[in-house]
Amino acid sequence: MKMWSGRFRRPLDPEFERWQRSFDFDQRVLRYELAASGAHARALKNAGVLSSDELISILEGLRQIGRETASAEPIEDSEIEDVHHYVERQLVSLVGDLGYKLHSGHSRNEQIATDLRLYVRAAIDELRSQLAELCDAFLSRAGQAGSFAMPAYTHLQHAEPMLVAHWLLAYVEMFLRDADRLADCRKRVNFCPLGSGAVAGATLALDRAFIANELDFTAPTNNSVDAVSDRDFVLEFVNVLSLLALHLSRWAEEMILFSSQEFGFILLPEAYSTGSSAMPQKKNPDLPELVRGKTGRVIGAATALAVTLKGLPLAYNKDLQETQEPLFSATDTVLALLPLLTGFMKTVEFEYARMNDAAQSGFMNAWAAATYLVNHGVPSRLAHEQIGKAVKLCLEKQCELQGLTLDELRTLNPAFDESFYECLKLNCVLAIHDVIGGTAPERVRQALAVAKKKIESLREEVHAHA
Ligand code: ARG
Repeated sequence: MKMWSGRFRRPLDPEFERWQRSFDFDQRVLRYELAASGAHARALKNAGVLSSDELISILEGLRQIGRETASAEPIEDSEIEDVHHYVERQLVSLVGDLGYKLHSGHSRNEQIATDLRLYVRAAIDELRSQLAELCDAFLSRAGQAGSFAMPAYTHLQHAEPMLVAHWLLAYVEMFLRDADRLADCRKRVNFCPLGSGAVAGATLALDRAFIANELDFTAPTNNSVDAVSDRDFVLEFVNVLSLLALHLSRWAEEMILFSSQEFGFILLPEAYSTGSSAMPQKKNPDLPELVRGKTGRVIGAATALAVTLKGLPLAYNKDLQETQEPLFSATDTVLALLPLLTGFMKTVEFEYARMNDAAQSGFMNAWAAATYLVNHGVPSRLAHEQIGKAVKLCLEKQCELQGLTLDELRTLNPAFDESFYECLKLNCVLAIHDVIGGTAPERVRQALAVAKKKIESLREEVHAHA
């Protein structure tokens, strides 16, 4: 039986009937529908709508449905309209007409809003746990990188040397922010729409605080009209995912560049690369390329959601059914990417010697050279100009700054002396970046310790929700 057929004189057009169904995809939230239905049943018992025996039968029925559908196999069913209809039909088949009592004071509008909140909340917890593992992989590679340096780029041109660990920790920062944004988003997700009814609030005296508590929500939502039509939490969550995916795609781009023969900074792990069917020598960066590509899907999902929600009048509209697939697709995509990235980062090989060499060519000590003059009292703009001239001289002589003689340097500024050559060396250049967040080895050592603590507390928080 349909959930709404009483007032209809004619059956639905079969094509329309098939087309408007959501069960193919909303069965994804079945376990949350069952949990929420259990909480609603308990509230019905407290409100005197169900007897204790009826409650026991319904809860057992719901558990039975849970057991029967525990496998990951998709449920094929050509009669079922949506997940709510499915639970009702299965329950009635298990406990008879009593099953229809579960829908007392209930609307699918509040149900789907609740199921989606439970789904997003669980996804957030899973993603934060995956992010902790990913950060940990970056952190341990940063720890292993020791004192090796590499070029830092601006405009993708050699800029200054930095520690390899400093570069890796930059990603840890991004991912920790993503984890933080997810936690912040969770705060707004974690309110319970149940008891909002179809739009104006339930018509039975249901204890909404009790229901919210049963499902580990912070509290009931405040306004029934908003509660049944709000999908801000979906859009907010998928926007957080697009920013996360965007970080992944920046990482991917660097991996692709750095594995090219021109850079040669990393060796692609064979377990995450493929060859070419045509060119026998090829090893291609498939994983990073697909990561970069899949970012498009996630951003696409966020855009689709925003466009679906735009201009919808209050409260529930069937358009809202269209928010489910982009949500699931973005979540699936990111949940699949993160562990792969972790595996890749654990196995990728760094060509430290080549990175370190690259960190010492291309005038990456020029700013340090100008700083030398500044420390000798030369105004910064003039120091910049004079080192610029020194670089010009080097380009003519085809050497680095350390290839200029003291005489040549003194034509630019008499302040130069022997100690200048010391300040051009890699370890000195690194060491002068001695500020919070800088690449001086001591600062990086501290940053490693701070990141380690943050990852540990992320792990603890994730554990607390598990
Ligand atoms: N499948 C619907 C959805 O995802 C459930 C809510 C249906 N509500 C209704 N009034 N038809 O939005």
